[in-house]
Amino acid sequence: MKPVKVGLLGLGTVGGGTVTVLARNAVEISRRAGRGIEISHAAARAYDPDRIQGLDRIGRIGDDAFAIVNDPDVQIVVELIGGYSPARELVLQAIANGKHVVTANKALIATHGNEIFAAARDRGVMVGFEAAVAGGIPIIKALREGLAANHIEWIAGIINGTGNFILTEMRDKQRDFADVLAEAQALGYAEADPTFDIEGIDAAHKLTILSSLAFGVPLRFEHCFTEGIAKVGALDVAYAAELGYRIKHLGITRRSAGGIELRVHPTLIPERRLIANVDGVMNAVLVKGDAVGPTLYYGAGAGALPTASAVVADLVDVVRTLTTDPSNRVPHLAFQPDELADIPSLPMEAVQTAYYLRLSALDQPGVMARIASILADQGISIEAIKQKEPAEGETHVPLVMLTHRVIERQMNTAIAQIEALDSVQGEVTRIRMETLSG
Ligand code: HSE
Repeated sequence: MKPVKVGLLGLGTVGGGTVTVLARNAVEISRRAGRGIEISHAAARAYDPDRIQGLDRIGRIGDDAFAIVNDPDVQIVVELIGGYSPARELVLQAIANGKHVVTANKALIATHGNEIFAAARDRGVMVGFEAAVAGGIPIIKALREGLAANHIEWIAGIINGTGNFILTEMRDKQRDFADVLAEAQALGYAEADPTFDIEGIDAAHKLTILSSLAFGVPLRFEHCFTEGIAKVGALDVAYAAELGYRIKHLGITRRSAGGIELRVHPTLIPERRLIANVDGVMNAVLVKGDAVGPTLYYGAGAGALPTASAVVADLVDVVRTLTTDPSNRVPHLAFQPDELADIPSLPMEAVQTAYYLRLSALDQPGVMARIASILADQGISIEAIKQKEPAEGETHVPLVMLTHRVIERQMNTAIAQIEALDSVQGEVTRIRMETLSG
């Protein structure tokens, strides 16, 4: 059978990795797919030929991305340029032209996925996006197929390698935030705009996709609560460790009574959990299903070859099902499109979680009692308290508390009241805490 012809948009880190993997493993890939997969046409503004193996196997390389989506010979378009525009226009044009699409673009799927999947459904084509979440980890395949028997209860993931690398280096080597970020950028892990990594936007894109796959709801990126890691201090990392916890930047989505939680924020988790020991740029996703229990998926969440691994796996999937009736293919969002449910998202202030609190309090009798009484008035139960020795000549002492679970709205009220006390200096640092127990 003739090889399938692929049009490739982008020859950057992931595009170059995809060319390399397709060339390096061509024989095995064709044995799996049932036919060869060849890149007949690629478009890139600039690329580094020394970093890419198999460039000579590409039929034609130009710089016009629209020439690819309009090329009648191309059957599958692989979009690896990233960003919202012109990626959206290119993908929609490819679909309108009856081409299947494979993309690693999490921002595009999280924000325009509903529109893209509807267009793909109308044209009977596939859109593969395994590489959009957690790089090389086949988490989309796991959720869509491997866990299809389950009622998914929650997912918690370390889904941004740059953020995890920064938190790990801060903990292990007491390195400076900016210095570690610069290294992640040099290694090619960070987003073009690194605030996407630091502020949790990249993780929110990925979490949005995981949540829809888990719960069968439309993609709702705008409902995701996002808090970055810039305010996590070395002091908090150290105090958390003393209490037996690690701080990780987690994406959490949970089906709770009032709706679906969708939140990205720094989180204290018990250090004995496997996921607490996922360090550096590695990613991990913990999924709790009612039948299977907790399952953990670990691997490289970024980088040329790991992400290409997911892109090429999608290509193989598309090639295997080219002649399948579209209604018999695995649905884009795991649930049949007309079975997506309109379950509401739970606003952050209605989410229930435990907390780590750190504040600076005047070292005199009655202060602790006042703070405890504010917490008690809001129904907040304290699980642990640590008061540190005051520094020489200091009137205030650091006070660290762990609380039991409480609705965020009540914690907000308590924090505002504590900050208003004359005996408390500055702001209260609050980091949410999860046990992630099965
Ligand atoms: N900037 C992302 C990360 C790249 O650091 O995980 C992979 O999506």
